[in-house]
Amino acid sequence: MTILVTGSAGFIGANFVLDWLAINDEPVISLDKLTYAGNLQNLASLESDERHTFVHGDIGDGDLVDRLLAEYRPRAVLNFAAESHVDRSIRGPEDFIQTNIVGTFRLLESVRAYWNSLPDADKSAFRFLHVSTDEVYGSLGSNDPAFKESNKYEPNSPYSASKAASDHLVRAYHHTYGLPVLTTNCSNNYGPYHFPEKLIPLVIHNALAGKPLPIYGDGQQIRDWLYVKDHCSAIRRVLDAGQLGETYNVGGWNEKANIDVVHTLCDILDQEKPKTDGRSYREQITFVKDRPGHDRRYAIDASRLERELGWKPAETFETGIRKTVRWYLDNQDWVANVTSGAYREWVGKQYA
Ligand code: NAD
Ligand code: TYD
Repeated sequence: MTILVTGSAGFIGANFVLDWLAINDEPVISLDKLTYAGNLQNLASLESDERHTFVHGDIGDGDLVDRLLAEYRPRAVLNFAAESHVDRSIRGPEDFIQTNIVGTFRLLESVRAYWNSLPDADKSAFRFLHVSTDEVYGSLGSNDPAFKESNKYEPNSPYSASKAASDHLVRAYHHTYGLPVLTTNCSNNYGPYHFPEKLIPLVIHNALAGKPLPIYGDGQQIRDWLYVKDHCSAIRRVLDAGQLGETYNVGGWNEKANIDVVHTLCDILDQEKPKTDGRSYREQITFVKDRPGHDRRYAIDASRLERELGWKPAETFETGIRKTVRWYLDNQDWVANVTSGAYREWVGKQYA
């Protein structure tokens, strides 16, 4: 038995592969294009682990994916590969269309051909799990109930629109061709190996570097935060027991305004790494121009996953965020490595 994981050198994919191999011995084939967001250093601890094979490539490369499927004969494909940063999608949507829509389509085509070639028992055991986001549901008002799986899709950014399109393709491959698919729509993740252009790692990194902590608009936008390892445990649970063709919302019941998240980060840093001049990191907070079309509020109702599959997050926001700050303080080499090159160019453009 083997699984194929795409986007495995990114934030969530890497956490998933590391956790997977820490808790069982089923081999993993990793496929990643190594874009600016893909970092092999995230998987460095698996370098001499025979259970892990890394392949550098694109989910949209049908010949490569066909070859991998034929050679390794996985019992499941988990698709984490995506362009994932909303702000980048606003500046340049093209890559999002290519990877998230066209790439997912080509991956589905390869998987469908492989699945059709399997003997009956393997065919019925096979799963294609697509990792998606709560952003496909659009933006909530302050009194709206949290997103359920039955909410209609109302994506507002090129990123969320491209993820919505990929979700629809996955659904259609089940409905039309019978492909055994599962989809998870998760809220904002945080934790180790998070690329430092996203809010939480960016704030930790800038705080320590003595730089401004940029808050878009009034900072009252709400996100529902989930510790990445809880997202990974939800995916494992859905892979094991999810109903074919269904979608599962994954969330931590942790709705927080951005400004509160940043205050929490500053307070933890004040305790864990106090500034030599005795001042608070909060003084570095700077309000900057808002993101165009900025969604006001996301909130996930994860009760289906909890009720039907018995999943629960292990971390609260308070425990998860403290672990995260600790991880960044303990892994400054990792941060230094990724905050060069493409990262610098991005920060120069975005916060000019
Ligand atoms: P990430 O940007 O950190 O990593 C994406 C990975 O995919 C990178 O390693 C990149 O090199 C790889 N990749 C990009 N294009 C590729 C291609 N064409 N072929 C192969 N590999 C390619 O993203 P992430 O935060 O780890 O997100 C993983 C998945 O989870 C995405 O599908 C994203 O939409 C979804 N998601 C993310 C969050 C979040 O808060 N980060 C929340 C919900 C869902
Ligand atoms: P982000 O981490 O980019 O995730 P997403 O846009 O997918 O939710 O941003 C989280 C929230 O933080 C979002 O409301 C935008 C806001 N934000 C800032 O206020 N300042 C920043 O510098 C960044 C990157 C994000």
